[in-house]
Amino acid sequence: MKTQHKLRLSVMALACLNPLYANAETFSFDSRNSLNSDTLILFQDADSTTYSIDVLPQSTQDQLTLAVADNSFSGKRGEVIEILVPSEIDAKRVLLVGIGEAKTLTPGEINALGGLIANKLETVPQAKVRVFTQGLTANPNFGSELAHGIELRSYRYSQYKASQHAQKNYQIAVDDLSQNQKHHKGLQAIEAGVFLARDLTNAPASKMYPESFANEARKLKALGVKVTVLEAKDIERLNLGALAAVGKGSERPPKLVVAHWPGSKEAPIALVGKGITFDSGGYNIKATGTSIARMKSDMAGAATVLGTVKAMAIQKAPVNVVAVMPMAENMVSGHSMIPGDVITTAQGLTVEVLNTDAEGRLVLADGLWYARENYNPAVIVDVATLTGSKVGALGNVYAGLFTDSDTLVQQLTYAGQQVGEKVWRLPLDQAYGDELKSSIADLKNTGKEGSAGASSAAMFLKHFAGDQPWAHLDIAGNALTATDTPLVPAGATGYGVRLLSTWINQLPKQVNSELNTAETSKNLM
Ligand code: BES
Ligand code: MN
Ligand code: ZN
Repeated sequence: MKTQHKLRLSVMALACLNPLYANAETFSFDSRNSLNSDTLILFQDADSTTYSIDVLPQSTQDQLTLAVADNSFSGKRGEVIEILVPSEIDAKRVLLVGIGEAKTLTPGEINALGGLIANKLETVPQAKVRVFTQGLTANPNFGSELAHGIELRSYRYSQYKASQHAQKNYQIAVDDLSQNQKHHKGLQAIEAGVFLARDLTNAPASKMYPESFANEARKLKALGVKVTVLEAKDIERLNLGALAAVGKGSERPPKLVVAHWPGSKEAPIALVGKGITFDSGGYNIKATGTSIARMKSDMAGAATVLGTVKAMAIQKAPVNVVAVMPMAENMVSGHSMIPGDVITTAQGLTVEVLNTDAEGRLVLADGLWYARENYNPAVIVDVATLTGSKVGALGNVYAGLFTDSDTLVQQLTYAGQQVGEKVWRLPLDQAYGDELKSSIADLKNTGKEGSAGASSAAMFLKHFAGDQPWAHLDIAGNALTATDTPLVPAGATGYGVRLLSTWINQLPKQVNSELNTAETSKNLM
């Protein structure tokens, strides 16, 4: 009991010192060849170049060469061999990690190698790890990107677990020290955003509801973020009828949360995130245990856009970004929407609600309208766990991207490839929009049964997206992972924070005037 208590205290003390991110690992960069560590990590590429091998004494080099030969280790990306208690040096183990073709590594692939290392060392009792990245010059940020991957994979949602994750202390030897230190700072800001998104999404729905989400958003005020919360009465007063309708079946009233990082005077980038803190389906209740059980994650879009704003604020990025998060709990009660109801959106369009489980597009309709009305954005990207149909098409490997802007397709696809949060364009075509005709209202909230549901949902949103460039990301399936992946332990992924942060950081300053020109994307590619 006592040691447990002490451990908790020291974890708390650490959190106090380091309030911006809750990760447990520590990192330092240097340019030394010291072997003073518990674990040594070296890299080999597919051409059999073993980087930094000469830091080891000859007998350890020989041991490694033998191990390589006897284990058909070829330096393929992700291959690892391990030597335990090597002779002549104090380290307890040496790991040789295959990186494949060094020149073709994307940052996301370097992150994944970091994730692999973190996973490999999970059960290693000793804390000290020294990593040699010298000579890996194809990417001057190899060391810091590796650290990023280690941290992303080491995240734990430990709120409800007695045992804490044992901390590792990584010393990373790099060629360009100041470059990596600077780059790592930017990545740590993004990590803080990812971890916020994961924490919010992992939290059970009875703990994470519109008001508690708003309270978490308010904490970003400490970073200079302007946070505004519209209460249920404001939602009524401003005629956000769709958000009000989805939220009215719950004991916990809906909110509209806005988090604005005004880092430049340019017209803002608006990010609109679906914030359904639990999606029971409403009267069209989700019938199977498996489909309903994961629906605490139906606010992942909101978590992602809030996490992105946090990343920008920590970086003090010279960008103007506003996250708009319509938050509601979709429940069954005597106050709930009834299938067949007609509601009036803030924009004035009426919607016949033929399925109360198609609630995401309803809250987003008012969220998109609110973003346009109040912020006159240069571009809008909405992020939503919107349709099962998207999961059917792309699974959890890609997010679905819907937009009329080829430039946004290029920019978001490129950013996604860089970080390994991939997106794939799906059709935004009037033929799917035609399915949304209602006989008694301007629109209905469902398309043709059992057909292209992700596209008809996107066409629904298009009615509310305005004239400026707009993209919709359907992240259903991406927000939660049932099994460990290279960069995420099972649970919430924080999908999209790295994608959006990278996209925003790479946007040229003249986003407003150039977003629609081919030049912008050429410069980015
Ligand atoms: N939140 C769900 C979509 C979802 C499904 C997210 C699976 C993550 C994993 C959304 O609100 C929903 O219920 N969509 C319905 C719409 C249908 C009723 C038109 C769907 O896709 O089945
Ligand atoms: Mn639903
Ligand atoms: Zn939903």
